[in-house]
Amino acid sequence: MSTMTINGKPASLPDDPDALLVDVVRDALDLTGTKLVCGAGVCGACTVLVDGEPAVSCLMPAQSAANRNVTTVEGIGAAKLHPVQKAFMAHDALQCGFCTPGFIVEAAAFHDRWRAAKGTAVPSREEIGAALSGHLCRCGAYDGIFRAVADACAGRFDGNDILPPRMEARDKVTGAAKYTVDIHHDGQLEGVILRSPFAHARVTELDLAPARAMSGVSAAISLLGDDRIVRYVGEPIAAVAAKDRKTALAAIAAIKLTGERLPAVIGLDDARRPDAPVVFEKSARKKAGNVSEGGGSPAPWKGNLRGPTAAFSKKPRKVRSWVADARAANDPLLVEGTFRTATQQHSCLEPHAAVARFDGDRLTVHVSTQAVFHLMELIAKRYKLGHDKVRVIADHVGGGFGSKASLGAETITAIELAREARAPVRVAYDRHEELSVTGYRPAAEIKIALLPSEQGELKALSFTAYGDTGAATNSTIAALARLIYPAEAKELIDFDVISNLPAGAPFRGPGGPPMAFALEQAIDEAAVRMNLDPIALRKRWDPDPNRQRLYDWALSLDIWRGRKPIAAQSGRYRRGIGVATGYWLYLWQPGSKVEVAVKGGHLVVSTATQDIGTGTRTVIANTVAREFGLEPHEIDVRIGDSKLPEGPGSGGSRVTASIIPPMLLAIEQLKTAIQQNAKRQPVPGSNAPWRDMLAASPDLSVSSVRPEDSKKTAPGIVSPLKQAGFMGMIFGWMMRRFSNLAIGAGVPSSVQVVEVEVDTWLGHVRVVNVHTGIAVGKVVAPALAHSQAAGAVIQGIGYALYEAREVDSRTGDVLSGGMEDYRIPGIADTPEISVHFDQDGFDHVLGGSVGIGEVATVPTSPAIANAIHNAIGIRLTELPIRPDRLVAALRGRAAA
Ligand code: FES
Ligand code: FES
Repeated sequence: MSTMTINGKPASLPDDPDALLVDVVRDALDLTGTKLVCGAGVCGACTVLVDGEPAVSCLMPAQSAANRNVTTVEGIGAAKLHPVQKAFMAHDALQCGFCTPGFIVEAAAFHDRWRAAKGTAVPSREEIGAALSGHLCRCGAYDGIFRAVADACAGRFDGNDILPPRMEARDKVTGAAKYTVDIHHDGQLEGVILRSPFAHARVTELDLAPARAMSGVSAAISLLGDDRIVRYVGEPIAAVAAKDRKTALAAIAAIKLTGERLPAVIGLDDARRPDAPVVFEKSARKKAGNVSEGGGSPAPWKGNLRGPTAAFSKKPRKVRSWVADARAANDPLLVEGTFRTATQQHSCLEPHAAVARFDGDRLTVHVSTQAVFHLMELIAKRYKLGHDKVRVIADHVGGGFGSKASLGAETITAIELAREARAPVRVAYDRHEELSVTGYRPAAEIKIALLPSEQGELKALSFTAYGDTGAATNSTIAALARLIYPAEAKELIDFDVISNLPAGAPFRGPGGPPMAFALEQAIDEAAVRMNLDPIALRKRWDPDPNRQRLYDWALSLDIWRGRKPIAAQSGRYRRGIGVATGYWLYLWQPGSKVEVAVKGGHLVVSTATQDIGTGTRTVIANTVAREFGLEPHEIDVRIGDSKLPEGPGSGGSRVTASIIPPMLLAIEQLKTAIQQNAKRQPVPGSNAPWRDMLAASPDLSVSSVRPEDSKKTAPGIVSPLKQAGFMGMIFGWMMRRFSNLAIGAGVPSSVQVVEVEVDTWLGHVRVVNVHTGIAVGKVVAPALAHSQAAGAVIQGIGYALYEAREVDSRTGDVLSGGMEDYRIPGIADTPEISVHFDQDGFDHVLGGSVGIGEVATVPTSPAIANAIHNAIGIRLTELPIRPDRLVAALRGRAAA
């Protein structure tokens, strides 16, 4: 048997020539800092050093490490943190942290080479980008990574250890943070799902016996529903648990499956045909998924078309007649267009994964989830177990973006296999599964007509959206246009177009980015027609006080003031500057509780929420520390476990707004209890009274239950639902009743000003600068909020320029199931990003803060499209704005 030296210690290598180094490192040696993401050499998450050189361990046969020195992230800075690790911590160059170990290994090697050759010279952005171009970060932490690597190379982190702004940063830069995929129990089995090869079929034979008979297989189960019908390629049919993944895959291949094919229809265009095969018969409609965070409005459903949901319209008949009149009169102010957006995959780097274990009648499930508490409730309900019998744990979550908010097939399968096998079972999706069956932001076709009045006001808006939702419903795109740019009349219609594709899912501001892509370009075009500054026009048409302040900020930017007229340049490369606006709702979850306690003289804060990279631990620690005059790192924050007091899910930017108010209420009560105790046992005078009083305090605990009490609307702040009239109030009631989500007063808002460079020969668009202004109230954790804001811009750049899930329109197979095919932004795509926080506007919220996650990404794609229009005078109406589309548009204009 051959051996390697890993992190200074000898380790044996398997004889199996197919064994990969990544599997030996992670599974045999439990060095789980090294991550497996793409398995194809694209993302860099599995990077290790082999004889000092970075190598992707997912492509490296384990045998080729024989007699060589391998260093994983655990071996970097084992005795003392490497300067790169300290710099990543200091610059908050990470969010979920799943990509971080790979970046650290590569950046440390680059740093060491650089320092040996160039001392403390500072590498350029291009040099850093080239060195790290083999790594991907879905959270978009690149802005901080640039700064971290530059500063480490400059020697600024050669000194002592640092206290990072993010609570768990040290665990993430050292590889110590444990994610669901890293959990390993004794006797744990691997679960694999057999998925439908059919777009639409009735399963006539499913024989699990050959799989069960195989050596090393402990369980084989059916996952079929009662009707035995599958409605998309990839729908779960059966699953097996085996001693390892290789055996499980062989067992899956041994299952006998026969299906009677049913007529199928793929995608938006075909599914709308009147003769299209129907995906969900009336009796099966409850099986459809949900692409929104809320419960949605009732709507007619005929064939594959669900809608129109026109609940948010206002005087729709007037819209129709005014637009028709304007069209007939060739009114130059009438802006009309059709916009198409692409399907965007969440592409979380940690795949959907669950590890289930039964101990007697108690079930513990580690899940990569955005909602530990709610998931516990769903599991308990499905399996008829008491809440005290189910525990859901998610210490760290490698990204979610909306796709991990419900009870998914990975969790159901892990639980059912564990029950059958009487052993712990892990189900972790491979990259193809992750990029095909875990949800997506539906593509959309949007028709818009916007009519200004003769007086220059917004008179009418017609907005019809068709969401390409796959086997799901509840797309809300047009309705979101109700809460911005008030008009005399609006007709807002949403349709779901259902087809034999996997179900869409909520994705960061569901409906917001496609709505903004169309609406913000129409507003921009109206400004062109009216010969007005686009920001000034928004300021006129959009009275929201938060956005009014952001418009003033945007108008004052030098880059905006120096903006050239449309298509004023010539030559191959042309620059343009565009603006767009976004908003999201201030959502919060009633019933969220936070326990604040003194234990052994220390403050311990507990709530069953989770940190998916958004910084929940830090928001909690910073808030409590501020109230007690302590340092955040003195606070013991406990989250990620459903046995803690009920906490909110991480979706809809709700966590900050849901936990700060109850936490402040609990702190108030705890302080009173501590002071009462201090009266009985006086503490000697000190400059830090709370620290001393805490040290002298007995163990105390306060759990606050009613954040609802603190959600009072200040005079003059009107709930956005009131603006939306009676249906708005009904919608709010339904959100609360069916989704346990409340909508508060005030509107989180953002305005982005973007500069692009267009290569008019090759059609490439480079985003050069982004100024993002955000109004979400008080910023509790500034460095982390900056990371969120910059990362949201980077995801928006992906949506605008690169990302598109491709499917075979005949078979329904997803063709972009690898990270080499589904292109997300890399570090070299990252522009200079400056973030402006306007911290007013939410004083009526206890604590003054609401969430930032969604609002920060909504306006990026239209701001880019508007900047392209400014550069070349052409409006690109289809996402992603690919080079071929841009070149075709330029050619079309030349031909015209
Ligand atoms: Fe190896 Fe992505 S997991 S490069
Ligand atoms: Fe890079 Fe989340 S921090 S993927």
